[in-house]
Amino acid sequence: MDPKAYKEMLLEILYTPYRQCTACPLGSLGRTHVVFGQGNPNASIMFIGEGPGRDEDLQGLPFVGRSGQLLNHVLEAVNIERKDVFITNIVKCRPPHNRQPLPNEMDTCKKILLLDQMKIIRPRIICTLGSTALQGLLDKPCKITQVRGQKLSYAQTPLIPTYHPAYILRNPKELNQFAEDLSLVASMAQTLDTL
Ligand code: URA
Repeated sequence: MDPKAYKEMLLEILYTPYRQCTACPLGSLGRTHVVFGQGNPNASIMFIGEGPGRDEDLQGLPFVGRSGQLLNHVLEAVNIERKDVFITNIVKCRPPHNRQPLPNEMDTCKKILLLDQMKIIRPRIICTLGSTALQGLLDKPCKITQVRGQKLSYAQTPLIPTYHPAYILRNPKELNQFAEDLSLVASMAQTLDTL
């Protein structure tokens, strides 16, 4: 079985018990879909956002609203094909009124889904989008303006934190830095893929 099909199957097995998940409060606060993630299960690059918004909740897919459109444009600009990467969020259910996910929600979701998604996909590089995703992953407070674009690591996997696309929509002057960070992700993935 080719690795992509095999990983696809493992992801399906992982998701099956959580299609109606109520492991954290977000499961009973009005979400429509559990948004597990989208993309190549054998991806070199894994993007992790904060949590589904309204459009994502309705469609069951990550980053399909305005933030997603911006992300798509910048991915295209740095020659990353969206179909080649895997995109998910630190929490898989929409927080009510788009509030930030709470530490216990992130911790629960990370333990039951995200860490296993990482073990299955085994990305060569992780890129977190925004401070909430970074803090949720590393379990410590971080200032995104200070760490963005730096080469960090998570469980021995290179990690590049960058801004959340919604922040760029509100602060378009940071678009260049966002594109620079994604360009770094693209070039690191290319290098790591040739090793
Ligand atoms: N914002 C996120 O953090 N994730 C999405 O999937 C969409 C918007």
